Amino acid sequence: MKAIITAGGHGTRLRPITHTQNKHLIPIANKFMLDYAIEYVRDSGISDIGIIINANDESIKNEFKDGSSRGVNIAYIPQEAPLGLAHVIKISEKFINDEPFIFYLGDNILVGGVAKFIKEFKRENSNCHLALSKVPDPNRFGVAEVANNKIISIEEKPKNPKSDLAVTGIYLYDPAIFEAVNNIKPSARGELEISDAHQYLLDHGLDISYSVITGWWKDTGKPSDLLSANQLVLDNIENDIKGEIVNTTINGKAVISENVRVSNSKIDGPVIINEDTIIENAHVTPHTAIGKRCKVTNSTVGYSIIMSDSVVRDVSDKVTNSLLGIDVEIIGNHKDQSAHRFILGDQSRVEVD
Ligand code: DAU
Repeated sequence: MKAIITAGGHGTRLRPITHTQNKHLIPIANKFMLDYAIEYVRDSGISDIGIIINANDESIKNEFKDGSSRGVNIAYIPQEAPLGLAHVIKISEKFINDEPFIFYLGDNILVGGVAKFIKEFKRENSNCHLALSKVPDPNRFGVAEVANNKIISIEEKPKNPKSDLAVTGIYLYDPAIFEAVNNIKPSARGELEISDAHQYLLDHGLDISYSVITGWWKDTGKPSDLLSANQLVLDNIENDIKGEIVNTTINGKAVISENVRVSNSKIDGPVIINEDTIIENAHVTPHTAIGKRCKVTNSTVGYSIIMSDSVVRDVSDKVTNSLLGIDVEIIGNHKDQSAHRFILGDQSRVEVD
């Protein structure tokens, strides 16, 4: 069995972060989002992975290379434009070469990995196996209508969803899916929709089985989704303190890497702090991930992802619910209490109380 993982697409909902980096390289608890997908697939026993990238994007290749650092073999499949998830499958046909495969959307994070879905697909011996999840907002997803334990229809982001069962980004297929993706037509938004390929399978009498995910699953499309994925992963960390801790209290779990210096501060875990970062006279509150070479001084930060080389200094109000990109600075200016100064890139988002 092989795997296809997506790392292309538009990333529009995560701008401005995605103006300068691929969304699949955003860190969740200081590990690339794409690393979670690769791990799930590898831990299910699959070693041949095709990763879909935008044709002009070298960043994923530069990071993951041939996959050997992650214990897998990676082949890159360039997509000339994000023409839809069924288009992704279409351009992967040669790589898959008539085998069953798992198709995993690289921006989905779940607890427990994918081995159990592969097992259920094999047991059901179906043409396609989908992992469904009950969600409060089904109109953001592909939605499955189920009757008598059978999927009877699938619609992409319907205005009036027929159920609350979202089709998650974990799909298992046999080669029948290629007939579907080669026969459907682009949707109104110009994409070859994966849901239309699934509906094609149903319309042609092919068999779609399913499992319902009972644990945690997230499509990390929006900043708030990234922060809750970060929370989930941090809730499961174990203490690992390698850096220098001076005159500081640490409550709860913390991972503090080598060459980090934390002084005159308070850390309320779960918190993760990456190499070469300085925390001084600061309070770090739960569910915060701080990247490499950051500086947090005379400030309080919490429930945030702070990427590498960023600075939070002398900020009197707590910085919370925040997603800071690479090399971002938030600096308190106490000269004029009634004013804020900003230098923000295109499509930045700032909320000020
Ligand atoms: O997360 C589950 C949902 O994923 C499903 O419920 C929907 O049926 C499915 O269409 C998809 O919806 P999204 O709107 O979340 O898809 P998005 O455009 O965010 O792309 C998902 C992943 O695929 C992401 O890793 C980007 C990548 N991608 C996307 C497209 C359209 C590509 O690599 N190439 C593409 O052409």
